Parts: sequence; C-alpha cells; structure tokens
Amino acid sequence: MPIYWQQELETMPRSGLATFQLERLRETLRRAAGSPFYGAVLARRGISPEDIRSLSDLDKLPMTTKEDLREHFPYGLLSAPLDTVIRLHCSSGTTGNPTVIFHNRHDLDSWANLVARSLFAAGARPGDVFQNICGYGLFTGGLGFQYGAERLGALTIPAGAGNSRRQIQLMTNFGTTVIHAIPSYLARLHETFRELKVDISRDTRLRILVIGAEPHTEGQRRRIQDLYGVKAFNSYGLSEMNGPGVAFECECQNGLHLWEDAYIAEIVDPETLQPVPEGVVGELVMTTLDRQAMPIIRYRTRDLTRFVPGDCPCGRSHRRIDRITGRTDDMFIIKGCNVFPMQVEKILMGFPEIGNDYLIVLETVKGVDEMLIKVEISPHFFTGEMEPLENLRRRIQEEIRDEVLVTPEVRLVEPGALPKSEGKAVRVQDLRHRQGE
Ligand code: COA
Ligand code: AMP
Ligand code: ZN
Repeated sequence: MPIYWQQELETMPRSGLATFQLERLRETLRRAAGSPFYGAVLARRGISPEDIRSLSDLDKLPMTTKEDLREHFPYGLLSAPLDTVIRLHCSSGTTGNPTVIFHNRHDLDSWANLVARSLFAAGARPGDVFQNICGYGLFTGGLGFQYGAERLGALTIPAGAGNSRRQIQLMTNFGTTVIHAIPSYLARLHETFRELKVDISRDTRLRILVIGAEPHTEGQRRRIQDLYGVKAFNSYGLSEMNGPGVAFECECQNGLHLWEDAYIAEIVDPETLQPVPEGVVGELVMTTLDRQAMPIIRYRTRDLTRFVPGDCPCGRSHRRIDRITGRTDDMFIIKGCNVFPMQVEKILMGFPEIGNDYLIVLETVKGVDEMLIKVEISPHFFTGEMEPLENLRRRIQEEIRDEVLVTPEVRLVEPGALPKSEGKAVRVQDLRHRQGE
C-alpha cells in the first residue's frame, strides 16, 4: 500500500528540493515579469530572473502585500493572456477593491493535486466519501476541496455551509468517511447530532476530520477529537496562495507540512522583515512556484507561525509549520469569514445618524460564535428614544452582512455610552471562549 501521493516529490532529499525550487523560482520570475506590476517592480530594481543564482538571492526580490493586490486590481498581477484564464476567486467586500486571484488550467490542475496530496497525507484514500461543509462560491475552501477530493478519487459531497440537520442526513445516507469543516462549527454540528440522537460511532462511518480556515488551539483540536471520536487534521491555506493545500498535517499530527515544491516559505520578523532563527515565531512570507496565470512573489501572509525543527517520522522531507498563533494585522475570522474592522467602520460612517464610536464584540452564545456590533447614535440625531431607530438598526445589519457575509447583531446605544479608551480606540473585543482551553 503506498503511503504517499507523490513519493518522489514528497520525500525528495532537501538538497534536491532546493535545486528544484531554484529552477521553479526562476521560471516563476520570468512569468511574473510579464505582468504590469512585477514587470515595473523588477525593472525599477534592475533585477532579471538570471540574477537569482541561489535561493539566498530571494531577498533581492521585494515583498508583495495585500495592498499591492488591491492597488493593482484587477489585472495588474496577471502574467498570462486573459483568454487563457479559466477561474478567479476573490475576497468578499465592497468597501475598497477586493483581492482577486486568477488561475489557468495548469494552475487549477496543480492546486487540485496539492489538495489530493494533502488529504492523502492525512490518511484519506480513493474510495473515501468526502463531505465538504464549507462555503462554495468565492470561498476557496469550497471548490478547492471539491476538486482536490475528486482528484484523490473520493466520492465528494459538495454539502456547503449551514443546515446542520441536512449535513447529518447526508452523512448517514451516503456513509461519509471524511469531513472538512471549520473547527468552531463542529461544536454546533455536534449539538445537532445529539438533538437527532445520531450516534457518530454507531450510525456513521466517519473516520477523519479536516479542520482549518480559522485559528484554533491544540486544546480545541483535542476537544473536537473527543466529541467525534476520530482524529482531526489541521489544514492551512490562503486564497493568495490558491487556498487549501498549502500546508497540511500528516498522520503524525505534529505540525503542517508546507509543500515546498509548490511554494517557498520564509518566516520573518514582522518589524524588520529579516528572517528569524529556526523555531522562532514570525510572519510567514510565501512565493508561488507552480502558478502560471498569476505568480506571487514573497507574499506577506500576515499569519504568525514558526518552522517546527527536526524531521517528521512520516518520511516527508517538506518542512513543517506550527499552527497559526495570530496575525500581524487586525483581521479576524468569524464563522470562517475574514473581517477587517475597517469594512465595518466604512459602512457605519456611511450612516449620518451614527456617531464616531463603535465596538465589535466577538462572543460565544450557546456554543455558537457571534458578532455583536455596538454603535453610538450621533448626538445630533438622538431624540432620547431608541424605538424609532429599529429601521436604521436593520439597515445597518443588512449592509454589514452583505459586506462580510456574517449576520451581526447590531445594538444601537446612546451617545457617549461606549467606554472611551485613552490613546488608540479599541474596536474589537474578542470574548469567544474556545472549548478545550
Ligand atoms: N460553516 C458551516 N456552517 C456554519 C458555519 C460555518 N463556519 N457557521 C455557521 N454555520 C451554520 C449555522 O449553524 C446555521 O445552520 P443551522 O441553522 O443548521 O445551525 C447556518 O450556518 C446559518 O448560520 P447563521 O449563524 O444563522 O448565519 P450567518 O448569516 O451569521 O452566517 C454563513 C452565514 C454561516 C453561511 C456564513 O458565515 C458562511 O458562509 N460561513 C462559512 C465560511 C467558509 O466556509 N469559510 C471557509 C473559507 S475556506
Ligand atoms: P482566505 O484567503 O479567505 O482563505 O483566508 C486565509 C486566512 O485564513 C489565512 O491567512 C489565515 O489567517 C486563516 N487560516 C486559514 N487556515 C488556517 C488554519 N488552519 N489555522 C489558522 N488560520 C487559518
Ligand atoms: Zn509528516
């Protein structure tokens, strides 16, 4: 029985891997130079792909940020003719430009293969029944896992997010063996198992959970494993680097193998942008090595992690990163949706009835993560009564939901009711309690 999806690539000795990466990096640079953005950046710095003689020359190349992607929206980083591009994914939101990523046929093929490889490393096999409990549409976890699991040879159920009863029905009808879901949702889903009196070990064939798309602790993982009675494997990815299939835990569950034939990973000090010593936490910076339509060079992910020192007993030579411990910006993730406080602020400031102060409170209500937004009414508008403002409250709620894809609870409060902080205003209070902590 094979234990690797692509043995040669996954177990390649590190010296061979470095040579392989260098070749792919140069090819990537040649392609990137064809995009308006990188063409100009490389010309300004007087760098040509031939100047990159070893991987240590990587630091001659500038880093790329989300702002670069936004500023050069939509086609500035496109390196291939538009008529060869067959899919795009982009971030939600209408305040400011979204970030958009384009893929050609090769890119989608390579991505599906990386997801298949990842699922295989976690123990999934052709013949498994894979249920993808994740938003489809523009979210990369939907189609990303769909095509990856199909490539693996699993019967793949595109269940989508929500409707917990239906999820369980699908599991029992079709004998689901592997689930991909967001860790915070699995607690909610487990409640429904209890309500329906469906016993996971007796009534289902579940054997593997794949969890990702939001930060979670080792304690939370253990709690989920205890609830479901099966192992849960951490899956890391981000849209700018395709989506899922960037780094994944193998059956050893001791860090996430980052697929180094497809990406170069650096971990840097977020202030100095210099590499940190191995094992020290810093910001993950990534370069695509197998993307043609839209290569991205030295992308600042804003995610904090570290390389796990030492080799993995599974025999894969690709380095492992630790679970993500935080971010270097103010983005937070709720119900699997990414939110920048500025998106909420821009919407609030579009309402003349609203004052300057607001507070986003993230909390766990009856086991479910919720977003509560407390908003101060403008003193010029406030008449002393809240009731006539119900219509305003609803409009705010709808606009924020359309922007961030999560329905917030909006609570209007009197002018001056929110606590004032000295110095920089505190806009987000995260009170979510993580089960297992
Ligand atoms: N994944 C799957 N289902 C979820 C979920 C999540 N992260 N968070 C909530 N849900 C479920 C709820 O339990 C509810 O179903 P139920 O009534 O059977 O329990 C249903 O979705 C609606 O949730 P609710 O909290 O009322 O709605 P909302 O408007 O605040 O959020 C979602 C809507 C859940 C559809 C939206 O947040 C979403 O699409 N989340 C998934 C994002 C995702 O897949 N990200 C991965 C990116 S790779
Ligand atoms: P998106 O581009 O919408 O797919 O969001 C990507 C972001 O989700 C990453 O940059 C991380 O902040 C977060 N994320 C994805 N997977 C994980 C994971 N396994 N653990 C923690 N955070 C994650
Ligand atoms: Zn391993």
